Amino acid sequence: MPKPQIYDILHREHEEVSELFHELEEAKGAKALELFTRLKIKLVPHARAEEAVLYPRLLDESNTEDETREGIEEHKQVDHLIAEIDAIGPDHEAWTPKIKVLADMVGHHVDEEEGEMFPLARQVVSDREAEKLAEEYERERDSFVQDLERTAQEDAAE
Ligand SMILES: [Fe+2]
Ligand SMILES: [Fe+2]
Repeated sequence: MPKPQIYDILHREHEEVSELFHELEEAKGAKALELFTRLKIKLVPHARAEEAVLYPRLLDESNTEDETREGIEEHKQVDHLIAEIDAIGPDHEAWTPKIKVLADMVGHHVDEEEGEMFPLARQVVSDREAEKLAEEYERERDSFVQDLERTAQEDAAE
């Protein structure tokens, strides 16, 4: 088995996020809140680790720079909308429409990463480097997940 490249790992996580959105769009009340929390723990560390490991590498190359800057702006919009959803909770009338907009936004972003950014990245990042980036990505992502879980515990203890 060849070692996974960073695109393989990101693709798998994109699929997991998309499945969570499908469940979340059908859910209500406490179940919706639980699914939204799981989605955040998957999506936020994914974006932060992309920004820490893959995006800086792609900002260095003229053929991937524009696509990467667009990706960074899309991450910011996603963060912003997540904060809005966090602030209202599942009983609010705006919850469901905001979840739908978030799902569309993330779906569009994932399509651009997989359809445009990654194919361009493959032209400048060697297979060996893409394997190394996969390892670095997983390390970064795991540390962001731990940070989030620690913060959640501290919030719960207050
Ligand atoms: Fe991604
Ligand atoms: Fe992304």
